[in-house]
Amino acid sequence: MKNTLPGAPYFHYGDTGLMVEGLALSALAQEHGTPLYVYSKASMVGALAAYQAGFAGRKAQICYAMKANSSLGVLQVFARAGCGFDIVSGGELARVRAAGGDMAKVIFSGVGKTRDEMRDALAAGIGCFNVESEAEIDVLNAVAVAMGLRAPISIRVNPNVDPKTHPYISTGLKGNKFGIAHERTLATYQHAATLPGLRIVGIDCHIGSQITEEAPYLDALDRMLDLVQAIEAAGIRLEHIDFGGGLGIQYQNEAPPAADALWAKLLQKIDARGLGEHTLMIEPGRSLVGNAGVCLTEVLYLKPGEQKNFCIVDAAMNDLPRPAMYQAYHAIVPLEPTKTADEAAVYDVVGPVCESGDWIGRDRALMVQPGERLAVMSAGAYCMSMASNYNTRGRAAEILVDGDRAIVIRQREAISDLFRGEQLAD
Ligand code: LLP
Repeated sequence: MKNTLPGAPYFHYGDTGLMVEGLALSALAQEHGTPLYVYSKASMVGALAAYQAGFAGRKAQICYAMKANSSLGVLQVFARAGCGFDIVSGGELARVRAAGGDMAKVIFSGVGKTRDEMRDALAAGIGCFNVESEAEIDVLNAVAVAMGLRAPISIRVNPNVDPKTHPYISTGLKGNKFGIAHERTLATYQHAATLPGLRIVGIDCHIGSQITEEAPYLDALDRMLDLVQAIEAAGIRLEHIDFGGGLGIQYQNEAPPAADALWAKLLQKIDARGLGEHTLMIEPGRSLVGNAGVCLTEVLYLKPGEQKNFCIVDAAMNDLPRPAMYQAYHAIVPLEPTKTADEAAVYDVVGPVCESGDWIGRDRALMVQPGERLAVMSAGAYCMSMASNYNTRGRAAEILVDGDRAIVIRQREAISDLFRGEQLAD
C-alpha cells in the first residue's frame, strides 16, 4: 500500500529516506533517540504566511493559540514573526515571558481563570481578557479595582453554531461550557460598561477545532456581526473583532479551506457591513503547527495474532494522546521506504502503555521490522503539549529544524525529573 504524506509539504522522501527540510529524519532519530518530536520551522512560518497574506493591508493581529504546542522554541518562532499569543493559564503567561513575547499582544481565554491568574495577567499588561461568563466579569472587575487598574476585556460569544467536528472539540454550541449565550451578550456588555475596573475593547468567539468546512465559520461570523452592530448601536465601541481559531488541517483526506481563501470570504462579509475598520484578531493553533511536526518512533516488536497483528513501538498514548482521546487519525510512514509491496502486513500500531486504548494507528499497512523507525505525521499540534508521564514514562525530546540545522528545543525527560517534588510519606 502506498504511503503518502498528507498535508505535510516540508517532509519528503529523498536519497536518505524521509527528510524534513534539508535533514534526514533517521539521522536525527539515531542521534537523539526515540520517541522524538521533530518540527520544521519553515512549515510554521509558511502556515503563518497564509494568514498574513489573508490580512494584507488590514489592521490585524494573529495570536497563536499556544495550547497547540507551547514549547518555548516554537513560541519564539511565532514571537519573532510578530505574533501575539492566546493563553489559557498562568503557566502559559509565564511561557510568553520566557519566550520573549509581547505582553500587549496577549489575549487570555478560558472559562476558569483564577483571581491569581487575573492579577498576574493584569500586572503583566496583557492586551485583553476574553471573558467567558457573567460571574467572571464581576470577579475580574473586583480584582482590577483592587489593583487600581482597568482590565481590557472582550466577551466571548457562544453563537450556537455547529462546527461539524469531533464533539470533544466543539465549543460554540449551546450545550458547551464556553462563552456567553448569544441572547445574553448585549445585556452583558451593557453591565460590563458600568463597571469601573473594566475597559471594553472587543468581542470574541471560537466555535471549535479541526473545522474543515467554510459554512460554520460564515454562519458564526454573521451572528457575531449582528451582535457587533447591536452593541455599537447601544453606544459601546468595540476596537477589535476576534474570530478565534479552529481551522482544520489535513491529517488524511480532509480538504480544509486555505487560510487566505477563507479570510477573503470572511472579510467580504465584514466589509459588506461596513465593519472593516475594526482590528481583526484570530487565535489559530493547529493550523500553524499541526503539519509542521512528526513524532519519530522505533518498532520494538511485531506480534502477529489471529485477529490482529500488532506493531509495538516505543511511542505511546502518553507521548501522543490524540488517537486514544479522540480516535484521531495520524498517518504513519516508514523512515526508509525501501521494501517491496508484497512484504506489507496490516498492523495496529500500539505503544507500551498498559491500556488497550494505547494505540497510535489502526489497520495500517506497513513493511517493517523491529529496530526500524516510523514517523507519525501531523504531530505538531496537541501532541507534545498534551503529553503526560503516565506509566512513569519521561516525555520525548523535541528538535526544531531550520534548513539544515537541528536545534534541540527540549531535552528528553530523565527518570529523575519524574520524581522531582515527590517524597516518601515517612
Ligand atoms: N482559541 C480558543 C479559545 C480555543 O479554545 C482554541 C482551542 C483555539 C483558539 C485554537 O484552536 P485551533 O486553531 O488549534 O483549532 N486537543 C484537541 C484540540 C482542542 C482545542 C481546544 N481549543 C485536539 O487534539 O484535537
